[in-house]
Amino acid sequence: MDSSKPAKAVKNAVKTASEKIADVLTPTVPGAPGSAPPTVEEPTAPHDPLPPKSEQGAPQTRTPTGAETDTPTTANGQQGAYLTTAQGARLRDTDHSLKAGSRGPTLLQDHHLREKITHFDHERIPERVVHARGAGAHGVFTAYGTAEGVTRAGFLKKGRETEVFVRFSTVLGSRGSADTVRDTRGFATKFYTDEGTFDLVGNNMPVFFIQDAIKFPDIIHAGKPHPDREIPQAQSAHDTFWDFVSLHTEAQHHTLWNMSDRGIPRSYRTMEGFGVHTFRLVNEAGDTALAKFHWKPTLGVHSLTWEEAQMLGGMDPDFHRRDLYDAIEAGAFPEWELGIQVLPDTPEETFDGIDLLDPTKIVPEELAPVQPVGKLTLNRTPTNFFAETEQVAFHVGHLPPGIDVTNDPLLQGRLFSYVDTQLTRLGGPNFAQIPINRPHAPVNDMLRDGFHQQAVHAGVAPYRPNSLDGGNPFPAGDDEHAFLDVPVTVAEAPKVRANPASFDDHFSQARLFWLSMSPVEREHIIRSYTFELGKCYHQAIKERQLQSLANIDPELCAQVATGLGLPAPEPTVPLADVTPSPALSQVGREWPTDGRTIGIVVDPDSDLDGVHQVRAAVFEAGMVPLLIAPHGGMVGDLPVQRTFATGRSVEFDALLLAGAPAPAPDAIGARDDKAGTTDTKTVDPRVLLLVEECWRHAKAIGAWDDGVAVLRQARVTDTPGVVTAGSGAEALTAVQGLMAAHRVWDRFPATVA
Ligand code: HEM
Repeated sequence: MDSSKPAKAVKNAVKTASEKIADVLTPTVPGAPGSAPPTVEEPTAPHDPLPPKSEQGAPQTRTPTGAETDTPTTANGQQGAYLTTAQGARLRDTDHSLKAGSRGPTLLQDHHLREKITHFDHERIPERVVHARGAGAHGVFTAYGTAEGVTRAGFLKKGRETEVFVRFSTVLGSRGSADTVRDTRGFATKFYTDEGTFDLVGNNMPVFFIQDAIKFPDIIHAGKPHPDREIPQAQSAHDTFWDFVSLHTEAQHHTLWNMSDRGIPRSYRTMEGFGVHTFRLVNEAGDTALAKFHWKPTLGVHSLTWEEAQMLGGMDPDFHRRDLYDAIEAGAFPEWELGIQVLPDTPEETFDGIDLLDPTKIVPEELAPVQPVGKLTLNRTPTNFFAETEQVAFHVGHLPPGIDVTNDPLLQGRLFSYVDTQLTRLGGPNFAQIPINRPHAPVNDMLRDGFHQQAVHAGVAPYRPNSLDGGNPFPAGDDEHAFLDVPVTVAEAPKVRANPASFDDHFSQARLFWLSMSPVEREHIIRSYTFELGKCYHQAIKERQLQSLANIDPELCAQVATGLGLPAPEPTVPLADVTPSPALSQVGREWPTDGRTIGIVVDPDSDLDGVHQVRAAVFEAGMVPLLIAPHGGMVGDLPVQRTFATGRSVEFDALLLAGAPAPAPDAIGARDDKAGTTDTKTVDPRVLLLVEECWRHAKAIGAWDDGVAVLRQARVTDTPGVVTAGSGAEALTAVQGLMAAHRVWDRFPATVA
C-alpha cells in the first residue's frame, strides 16, 4: 500500500477522535503534535504508520548519487504495521528482556535487547562546534531573472524554481540552549540547483568579528563558556568574550551589531541575512562583478526587547523554533527576497574606499542599492529534526557555475573548515549521501568507499583518464555548465603573515552603525553594553572596552561608563566623519503582520460572540489568536489555548481584552509566584501582569466591553498604543494597525539624542 496514506483503520480512528476533541473549530491554532489527535485508550488495532503532518516536508527521495526516484518521501520513514528488529523480523514483546525465569538474570542471547540498547547508546552525534542550536525548514526559491546579466548561475534565471533547505542558528550555545539569547544568528541556505548544490552560509549580521580565519578558534574560545566552570552558557556577557574583543579591536563593529537589537531577533522570520563576504560573479560572456548577498524579510526586521528575551529564556526556550514551525503550519509562510549589491570587479577590490575583502566592513545600501534577484518561501517543516536539521551539512565551497569566491582571508579559511568538521560530526567522508545533503544533480565524482558508503558504484575505473570504463566520467565545458574558477590574476608578492593596511580601520564603520540608529535603538545599545560589561568580573576589561567605545562615540562611551561607575576615557583615534545609513535602522517603517500572535483574554462573562468574530478575523488576517482564560478546556464553545497559569505576555505580539476576569480560584500568591497578591483587586492579578508586561514591552493593547475595566485597573488607559473600542472588530483593526510598526515606540520617548 502507499505508505504516504493512512490506513483505513487509522482514518476511522482519526475521525472518531476528532469528533471527541474539544477544539472542533477550524482553523485551529498550530502546534498539535502528530498528524492525528490521540484517543484516550491505547490504540491496539494494527495499522500502517500515520502520515506526517500536512505542513511537514522531507528531503526528496534521490539516490545517493542524485538520481530522481519515483518513491514518496515517506518511503524513507518507518514501514508496516508491526514492530520489527532492524532486520525486519517481527517482534512480539519489547517490554521485557529475555530472562532465566521472571526473577532471573538477563540472557546475553537476547539479541533484541542488545540491538535496542546498543543503538540507543549511539543515538547522539557530536553537536556542531559552533551554531549547535538551530532550526531548519524546507522551501522554494523563485528567481526573478534580474541577476542574469551578472551571473551564469542557472538557478537565478527568470522563473526558475529551486528547492531549498534553510537552517537558522545561534552561534555560541550548546544544542539545548535557549533560542532568545543575545548572539549572532546563522542563516544558512542550501539551494538544490540542477547545476550542483549552492550553499549560502550567512549570518543575520553583515560583518564578522575577525578578518582572518586563523582567528576563528580564538573568538569562539573567548565566547564559549569559561573552560574551568563551563559557565556562562550561550552568553557573551562574561570576561573572556570582552577580554578578546577589547584587545582585538577589529571585533568592535560586529560586537556593536550584537549589542544592538539585531542580537535578539523577534523571530527568524524577521531577520535579515547576509553572505558577509564579497563573492565574484561571472556571466555567460565571462565578465565578472563583485557582489554581496542580502536576504530581506517580507515582515521587516524586528527584535525582542531585552526583558522579553530574558523572560523567554525561561518561559519558552524554544521560542524561535516554535515560532518558525507554527508560522509554517498556520500557512503564514516566511519569505525573504534575495538581493545583491553589484560592485565593479576592479584590481583594487574596493568600492568607495571600502576594502571589499575586509569582512568587518559593509557597503552602505545608499551607496550600492540591494537589487532583488528572487524570492525564498519556507513552506514545509522537517518531518524528522535529526535526519534533516541536525544532519544537514553546509559548506561555503558548495558553489554553482557563475558564483566564485574572493580572496577574503576569512572566506578562504572557511573553505577548509566546514568539510573538515563535518568529517567528525557526521562520522566519515560520505555525509553528502545523507538524504538532506543529496544533490539534485547527477553525481559522478570518482570518490569511493569510506564509512557508511550508500552508493553502489559500478565500473572498475574510478580514475581519469581511463579507457576501461569507456572514459567515463568526462570533463565538462561551458556548454555543459561546468563550474568556472574565475582566472583572477594573483599579484606577485612576498609570502607574509599580514593584513593589508586598509584592514587597520576598526572604528569608522562601528561609528557609522551607531550614528545610523534611532534614539530608542541607541538606548538599547547602551543598556546592553552596560549589562554585558556589568557582568564582567575584572575592572581592567571594562576599562579597556570603554576605550573602544570612546573611539566609536563619546556619548555611547559616557553613558555606558556611568552605568559601570567608571570614568569615560577620551578617544585615542580621530572620530570618523561618516554618513549614516538609514537602511541600518529597524524603526520607522510599517510591515505586514502575517503570522503574528494575538493573545485574547476571555472569561465566561465576556462578549463571546465578539470573541468568535475576532478569532475568525485574526485567522483571516493570517495571524494566530490564542485565547487566555481562567481555566483550560472551553469558554462557551471556544477552545482555550492558555490559562492565566500557563500564558505569559512574551508569547504575544499584541493583547486584546474581552473581559475583566475576577481572581480565579488558583490566583493565590503562595501557589503562583508570578501572580503577586490578590489583595483587593477585582481582576485576576495575572491578567493585570499580562497588561503591565505588554505595556512595558511597547506592545499594542486593545479592549472592548468588560475588558476596558482591566485597562483602567492597570492604569494604562489614554497612553500611546492602548485602544478602547466599541466592539472586538474595532479593537482588532486598531491593534493590527499599531502592530504594523512592530512596537508602540511612542510609549517610551528616548532620552538619548
Ligand atoms: C562570515 C563569517 C562566517 C559566517 C557568516 C558563518 C556562518 C556559519 C553558519 C550559518 C553556520 C551554521 C551552519 C548550519 O546551520 O549548519 C556555521 C557553522 C560553522 N562555521 Fe561558520 N561562519 C563564519 C565564519 C567561520 C569561520 C571563519 C570558520 C572557521 C575558520 C567557521 C567554521 C564553522 C564551523 C566549523 C561550523 C560548523 C559546521 C558544521 O558542523 O556543520 N565559520 N557558520
